[in-house]
Amino acid sequence: MTILFPETASEPTTAEDLLSIRDLNIEFFARGAWTRVVSDAALNLKTGGSLALVGESGSGKTVTSLSILKLLPKQISRVSKGTINFAGTDLLNATESRMRQIRGGEIGMIFQEPMTSLNPVFTVGDQIAETVRQHRKVSRKEAWARAVEVLDLVGIPAAARRAKDYPHSFSGGMRQRAMIAMAISCEPKLLLADEPTTALDVTVQASVLQLLRRLQDELGMAVLLVTHDLGVVADFCDDVTVMYAGEPVEVAPVDDLFGRPAHPYSAGLLRSLPQRTPPGQELTAIRGMVPQPDQLPPGCRFAPRCDFALEGVCDVEHPELVKLGNGQLTRCIRIANGDLTTSQLVAAPAGTPAAHDLSITATDVAEQNGSDR
Ligand SMILES: Nc1ncnc2c1ncn2[C@@H]1O[C@H](COP(=O)(O)OP(=O)(O)OP(=O)(O)O)[C@@H](O)[C@H]1O
Ligand SMILES: [Mg+2]
Repeated sequence: MTILFPETASEPTTAEDLLSIRDLNIEFFARGAWTRVVSDAALNLKTGGSLALVGESGSGKTVTSLSILKLLPKQISRVSKGTINFAGTDLLNATESRMRQIRGGEIGMIFQEPMTSLNPVFTVGDQIAETVRQHRKVSRKEAWARAVEVLDLVGIPAAARRAKDYPHSFSGGMRQRAMIAMAISCEPKLLLADEPTTALDVTVQASVLQLLRRLQDELGMAVLLVTHDLGVVADFCDDVTVMYAGEPVEVAPVDDLFGRPAHPYSAGLLRSLPQRTPPGQELTAIRGMVPQPDQLPPGCRFAPRCDFALEGVCDVEHPELVKLGNGQLTRCIRIANGDLTTSQLVAAPAGTPAAHDLSITATDVAEQNGSDR
């Protein structure tokens, strides 16, 4: 494996990039000090493309996506370094009035818990129509018609009638669909979806994801999907950025990530996929926990949990994100210098049942999820 160049965070943005984040640091003020919770985050999302931001709880996924919309709490957080460029706009330096145009207009948002975003005292149709009127010069009647149209588009039966209902009379899955309808009502170029299906049961999850995929195709919008579930990623995304302890550790097309993960953390996430675990066998969890942002280890942040960590190497030097010969990015020193191969990561560790080798593809997982990827 060859390293093309050691620093990729400063790789140039191409014309087809819709969203590009570079060298982003985010800090929170807690217990009298600023602590960095996101370090050197970088991502590229093409027009109409789909990118997943994956990682365990606390890895910085939500904070990174909120920073795109400048929705981080102002008093206690700050972006201390980096750039966020969206369709030619430098978001970090954009005015609040420009951000109001972008939020809900050019960038739609869906959050994990729809009831926090739907207002219980207004009808679902009124709330969608209000969003439309904020961003488009249309009459009340036209805005209402658009609300009914998008509710129909997301599969709410009898949309014209249900638009007059209040959110509490919708089921969880229907509320999530209503949220999606609101998010796409102004035909955004980008949809930010933070754990859009986590609160839903498995069958509803699958249908909501299928809906998102269909809308993405039909509307040509790009999607940034935040999730801790690699199974969801297999279904949905072209590319994946794996976050660990506030920084990206691997960036790859989804098929490469499943076929030849280039970071021990990604391999660990794949190994813990329920789809790969034979019935009756316990899931293989990654041992240990994500470190707190103010207690990061000095070398590789994953080293204390890594079965492949070398003493005196991985626990000493903090690795850079480097580009491998096939274009995959990794933050593993051993993979980058060729001392550890992706096949070694993919092979089952000694003592693990054979069924735990990682020879499962993204398509296999998507099929097991009931998707036609
Ligand atoms: N309001 C806040 N004040 C202080 N620290 C915060 C705040 N919000 C987030 N953080 C810290 O930022 C880090 C990243 O949090 P974030 O919510 O982005 O994680 P996440 O990857 O989205 O996790 P999850 O999968 O649980 O949603 C965590 O260490 C978290 O404690
Ligand atoms: Mg989150």
